[in-house]
Amino acid sequence: MLSTMNTLRIGLAGTGTVGGGVWSHLQSNFDVLRCRTGVDIKIVRVATRDPKSIERLGIPTSIVSDDWHALVNDPEVAVIVELMGGTTHAYQLIKAALEAGKHVVTANKALLSKYGEELFALAAKKERQLLFEASVAGGIPIIKSLREGLIANRIVALYGIINGTCNYILSNMSEKGIDYAEALADAKAKGYAEADESLDVDGHDSAHKAAILAAIAYGFWVPEGQLATEGIRQVTKVDIQFARKLGYEIKLLAVIKSDDKSGVEVRVHPTLIPQKNVLASVSGVFNAVFVRGDVVGDTLFYGRGAGADATASAVLGDIAELALGLHAPRKCRAVGSDALYPKLKALEEIISRFYVRLNVADRPGVLAKIASVFASYEIGISSVIQPEVQAGESVPLIIMVHDASEKRFADALAEIARLDVVKDTPVSLRVEDFE
Ligand SMILES: NC(=O)c1ccc[n+]([C@@H]2O[C@H](COP(=O)([O-])OP(=O)(O)OC[C@H]3O[C@@H](n4cnc5c(N)ncnc54)[C@H](OP(=O)(O)O)[C@@H]3O)[C@@H](O)[C@H]2O)c1
Repeated sequence: MLSTMNTLRIGLAGTGTVGGGVWSHLQSNFDVLRCRTGVDIKIVRVATRDPKSIERLGIPTSIVSDDWHALVNDPEVAVIVELMGGTTHAYQLIKAALEAGKHVVTANKALLSKYGEELFALAAKKERQLLFEASVAGGIPIIKSLREGLIANRIVALYGIINGTCNYILSNMSEKGIDYAEALADAKAKGYAEADESLDVDGHDSAHKAAILAAIAYGFWVPEGQLATEGIRQVTKVDIQFARKLGYEIKLLAVIKSDDKSGVEVRVHPTLIPQKNVLASVSGVFNAVFVRGDVVGDTLFYGRGAGADATASAVLGDIAELALGLHAPRKCRAVGSDALYPKLKALEEIISRFYVRLNVADRPGVLAKIASVFASYEIGISSVIQPEVQAGESVPLIIMVHDASEKRFADALAEIARLDVVKDTPVSLRVEDFE
């Protein structure tokens, strides 16, 4: 018997930012959870490599081990909460926990995007829950909303600002007119960016979360490496300023959508968003997810996407779900297995509008030359900005083009880059109009 009547015994792996938050908030809100679930939720074992955190959090040393096997091997532990991060030990722990018949709660998006298919299949086989609310958008209950509140909907589209670090950097660049390097340094100084920022700014963290959202919304796991991903390093303050003149903000956006049954787009890239769209005003470290369902229409979820408190709220929500099901456990609902839309659309087939910034020779006829290349690829121009600058060798030229496939646009841009009037490598960004 894993749990005695009305007590749910937890093994906590990891006592860092999130693990520490879970320990503290479980102590402070023990009564709230008891009242709402009818169950005493107790952390009875802790695995950590960080003895200082044990002291800081006031965890009794008698329940602490530096080896996560201690959680799996304890027959009293019914639920293992994996908050170690990484994809090696965390993978081994979750697998061993499910094999041992324990439920698992995790916040580990990197792990789920890589091993989700296998681990959910194992959970289903073992009839155990694998819950993961904290893995996407921290405190925002987007996973439960998609799997429960919106279960009757086909998801038409889902757009997410799901990396607080990138959103903080881009918002700061936009609001203060500073460049990327300065905004990144500020994010590091405030603790919003890691010393090695690449997981965030190169778009990988958003891609991990997009893979999880896509698996829930469309029933298949995008294979690792096949999710089209661009980060924000190449976004300049000049592009942000021109985008604003055109009525847009630039955000790192995860786009997951399917307008027919021919396939699903799953991609992450810096995107021009119309200022009148609510996502354009999501600033700082906040996250937001916009979901369009075929029954419900448009919905928006907003909140803190990271941090000890917000993330602990999501982890504790998952634990409470297990507590509520203590005497009538639900089967694990496999994620990524309903296969309503089985095909991932290749990036070349995706249709977008684009923003283009060129540095061109300051002489008559340049725009006509560029427009004729776009026209030869059947790509229309919707607007042009050529700022007045002092006469010189080259000037910026900003062009917005109508819908084009990635392939057609890339071919046109490559031809434009070869024109003698075009000086530097063209900059291009996708535009999303949410239609
Ligand atoms: N931080 C957030 O706001 C946030 C938000 C959403 C999701 N998440 C996810 O939550 C997870 C935890 O993130 P975090 O920010 O809390 O990380 P963290 O602060 O680095 O904490 C991880 C803790 O786990 C310990 N640990 C790592 N491997 C271990 C092992 N094999 N055995 C025992 N202890 C081990 C670490 O010890 P050492 O320090 O000695 O390595 C550290 O104390 C990650 O998957 C992350 O992606 C985090």
